[in-house]
Amino acid sequence: MREIKACIFDLDGVIVDTAKYHYLAWRRLAEMLGFEFTEKDNERLKCVSRVRSLEILLEVGGITATQEQKEQWAREKNEWYVEYITKMGTDEILPGVTTFLSELRANGIKTAIGSASKNAVLILDRLGLTCYFDAIIDGTKVSAAKPDPEVFVTAAGALDTPTSQCVVFEDAEAGIEAAKKGGMFAIGIGDCSTLADADVVIGGIAEINYEKFLSLLNK
Ligand code: BG6
Ligand code: MG
Repeated sequence: MREIKACIFDLDGVIVDTAKYHYLAWRRLAEMLGFEFTEKDNERLKCVSRVRSLEILLEVGGITATQEQKEQWAREKNEWYVEYITKMGTDEILPGVTTFLSELRANGIKTAIGSASKNAVLILDRLGLTCYFDAIIDGTKVSAAKPDPEVFVTAAGALDTPTSQCVVFEDAEAGIEAAKKGGMFAIGIGDCSTLADADVVIGGIAEINYEKFLSLLNK
């Protein structure tokens, strides 16, 4: 049986339903710049850093800009995003998350966040989730974006656990790739067809409890 001592969770799309707010803020920026940014276009931004997301958005709109303009637009998008997330309620914590985190911790499994977001601390505090994690490694603490494993390897280090004894929960393909590159067991959250490289894929955390989680590790 695989020995697991820690679980590392992506934030957006795994713990909280924030993807819609990222989209609303990016769409608002696109509107301001005079073009339409669809939900389909937005798929390309999943798991992607703020700066890179802006580059993709400008590519969609066929817009070239100076570094200064880009910095201003990224700042504006973030101000709108923060405005949305500060209004979030606990109903936007994804189903089953707090129960599963409590169960893991009660069974001696350490927990961490491994996210690209620079707003992770704000979101976790706002929703009363900070106390469920032993470490929070976010976009303010690492420089390489997923699929680089840096964020997960740093989280494993903060939990003082070898990467081979960590499980990562991720909803994006690049995140699964990062976990695998880091030598971790990867549980995909979402759709098997897009998360084909995950060791196991589930629809959401609500589908599992501690017992089911242990059985997934031996698949
Ligand atoms: C990731 C999201 O978790 O964080 C991306 O999936 C987002 O959509 C990225 O762009 C950076 O987030 P933030 O909050 O620092 O702009
Ligand atoms: Mg995500």
